[in-house]
Amino acid sequence: MAAAATSVVVLDRGNNTTCTINLHGATVVSWRVNNQEQLFVSKLASFDGKKAIRGGIPFVFPQFGPWSFGPQHGFARITRWHLDRAPERLHNGDVEAIFSLMDNEFTRSIWNYQFRITYRLILREKELHFHIGVYNPSKDLSFTFNMLLHTYLKVPDVRRCQITGLHGCHFIDKTREGAMYQEGREVVTVNEWTDRIYQHTPQEHVITNVVSGRKMRLHKYNFPDTVIWNPWIDRSREMSDFGDDEFPNMLCVEAGNVSSPVILLPGTAYEASQILQIIIEGNVSRKTKRNR
Ligand code: BG6
Repeated sequence: MAAAATSVVVLDRGNNTTCTINLHGATVVSWRVNNQEQLFVSKLASFDGKKAIRGGIPFVFPQFGPWSFGPQHGFARITRWHLDRAPERLHNGDVEAIFSLMDNEFTRSIWNYQFRITYRLILREKELHFHIGVYNPSKDLSFTFNMLLHTYLKVPDVRRCQITGLHGCHFIDKTREGAMYQEGREVVTVNEWTDRIYQHTPQEHVITNVVSGRKMRLHKYNFPDTVIWNPWIDRSREMSDFGDDEFPNMLCVEAGNVSSPVILLPGTAYEASQILQIIIEGNVSRKTKRNR
């Protein structure tokens, strides 16, 4: 029997800037920029090819949250994806790879639809780009789905992070039995168990005090919702694959299409994308000066 294909794909841009994807769930498990890790992965994360990986960027599809037909957050994060295009250097030095997931016996046993997802990742100098296409090849059946990129940012202390762009947005508070509220704060901070689905959020959020005290920009297209999650003390203890002391070092800011499902008609496709970008303040001000 041929040896099993490796489970990990690495995009290497040079200068210790890399992105590692585990084919289990096409989970981005590491994004290093100049050797600095930007994503949180729990020290207790399981890599058994069965459980979802606790950290990085799991791919949530076709369900967000508990599911009466199958596993929480759907099957995409626990299914092995295919590598369609191995990492390839583009003319500008960026590195691209393409992954895909199609329906198979396992997915159809839970959710009896044909589908094809392509997931294109591009590693730039200080950015990571995600382009997603979902296609319905059926001649007669429509389907509905949720999708979300469950981004776990690595942070030195979550209590010091601020998230912009949520002021005025309505949100479902999952820590209060799904009650709806409207965000009154200019910037959102996290000081307790937080599990909120913010709806109709703008295309951009900036998160302060990520690794090295820097800011991270999250830019999204066709993802109308933003989930903010941190399990805090008690919920951390309930998770077997998450250390009790790890909650201060992560913040989930998740771009998705979750509060109302996407309807995909036969023969049609849906596209969405996300860019994570490290904001280098010095560069911004130099550019501004030049433009004056
Ligand atoms: C978040 C949800 O996106 O994911 C939370 O809003 C959930 O409710 C969290 O607890 C983690 O989910 P899981 O299945 O990875 O433990």
